[in-house]
Amino acid sequence: MAQVDGAEVAQHNTKKSCWIVLDSRVYDVTSFLLDHPGGAVVLLKNAGTDATTEFKKYHPLTYVKQLPAGSDLGPINPNTRTKLNKPKESTRPPADEFEAEKQIPHVSLCVSCPDFEKVAKSVLPRKSYTYASTSANYGLSLKGNLEDWGRITFRPRILRNVGDVDARRKIFGYSSPHPFYISPMGTLGAIHSEAELDVVRGAVRKGVHAVVSTASTRSTAQIADCHKEELQRCKGSPTELFFQYYMPVDRTKAIELIHIAKQAGYKGLWITVDTPVLGKRTTDRVLQAEEALAVGMDEEPASTWETGEDNAFAPAMGGRPGAGQLSPHTTWEDLVWVRKEWKGPIVLKGVQCAEDAKLALEYGLDGILLSNHGGRQLHTAPSSLMTLLEIKTYCPEVIGKLEIFLDGGLRDGADVLKALCLGATAVGVGRPYLYALAAYGAKGVERVTDILAEELAQGMRLLGVTSLDQLRPEMVNASRLLNEMWRPDSFSTRSKL
Ligand SMILES: Cc1cc2nc3c(=O)[nH]c(=O)nc-3n(C[C@H](O)[C@H](O)[C@H](O)COP(=O)(O)O)c2cc1C
Repeated sequence: MAQVDGAEVAQHNTKKSCWIVLDSRVYDVTSFLLDHPGGAVVLLKNAGTDATTEFKKYHPLTYVKQLPAGSDLGPINPNTRTKLNKPKESTRPPADEFEAEKQIPHVSLCVSCPDFEKVAKSVLPRKSYTYASTSANYGLSLKGNLEDWGRITFRPRILRNVGDVDARRKIFGYSSPHPFYISPMGTLGAIHSEAELDVVRGAVRKGVHAVVSTASTRSTAQIADCHKEELQRCKGSPTELFFQYYMPVDRTKAIELIHIAKQAGYKGLWITVDTPVLGKRTTDRVLQAEEALAVGMDEEPASTWETGEDNAFAPAMGGRPGAGQLSPHTTWEDLVWVRKEWKGPIVLKGVQCAEDAKLALEYGLDGILLSNHGGRQLHTAPSSLMTLLEIKTYCPEVIGKLEIFLDGGLRDGADVLKALCLGATAVGVGRPYLYALAAYGAKGVERVTDILAEELAQGMRLLGVTSLDQLRPEMVNASRLLNEMWRPDSFSTRSKL
């Protein structure tokens, strides 16, 4: 194929003709504008430019193979690159700004989890910070997640010889020094240039397990390889990776993805079930509207424009399916075939009431993760603590038969302790790790782990316990939340649990 001149590429910068350069080749993406799961605006913003750096923040480069046949116009003439356009209005600084030339405080000045958000906000492009911090509707689910931990208090015991404490915990038999793990978060390429790789490096160095998102910007296998390499380099305690599974609509692809994760060595499947459709990510919407207006579109076509995690199942598969990947049609019966394909522990991520916890037990799941997706899905969803109290009240048999995980709003080792007192196996921590990654890469991930571990150990001592199996529900006072708990007889017709 003949080389294409940069000056010519630069001219194709409209809805009628939109060309971009990816990995030194020129693509005509005009016919793909309306099908792009990330929306037309992001392509138009990069029309006539070299969009490789931007592209890599959201997808592996192998994705270009998913462009429609005939889009590849040939290699760019390298001597004419300077004639390409610069991206139109960009809410994102150049890639090297990820390495933060900006003055940021030394990592040791971050002494508790909320400190990382302030630094991340100063470092991240607005679009990336919006992606991370956004929540559903006008934010009450997120607010509830953050506040409910503070509404439970401890009932400490004294004079208990708490010189040595041990916070070790197993998740499906895999031991870790910590009873918390790193929650799956997609599209981390928009957060840090090393993305998921620095998450697993930091995780291994501090012995914390991690759940890897289907929507990662590095492939499932690449992340697993990085994990193995880091394990070899470090002599710390071995950690494991689990795989967060967004079930692709297409059954063949869904099965293929399970096998990819299994082959790469992931130890458990966390099936996310709280996203039959994407929640209303309000601050994202404002940004979308601004970006659409900046490229001359009054209204973004009603496709699945989205900055974030849920717009892409495909990195793991090496390819992106079309728009509408979140399947509203998935049911409990799908778990039957998933179970046949995945030999190993399965967790349902996003259980939000006692009835579903019971069903999970009936369907032979191994664990449930009480979660409202970090307050990003249903408006006024219950916090995971509230759901745990409901389960303890209406179907306590579930605890002990299933491994119980919680996430959402955990920002302190003391929060972790409360969840464990009430019967959780372990908890997931999301945004604190993401913000720390944004500001400090793998070092930030290590620092968050150290902070939580220290707070947890200190909390154990002050509570009067030396190991996690001494924790009991009576060590916390949850009466404020219990008073607000849903009751089956709160309606005239008694609901059947
Ligand atoms: C930026 C971001 C991306 C996320 N991506 C995913 C994802 O790809 N899959 C998933 O199951 N959950 C995803 N989640 C939800 C997290 O796994 C987790 O449930 C939530 O972040 C926990 O709340 P916290 O951030 O307050 O700790 C994401 C959350 C955030 C903040």
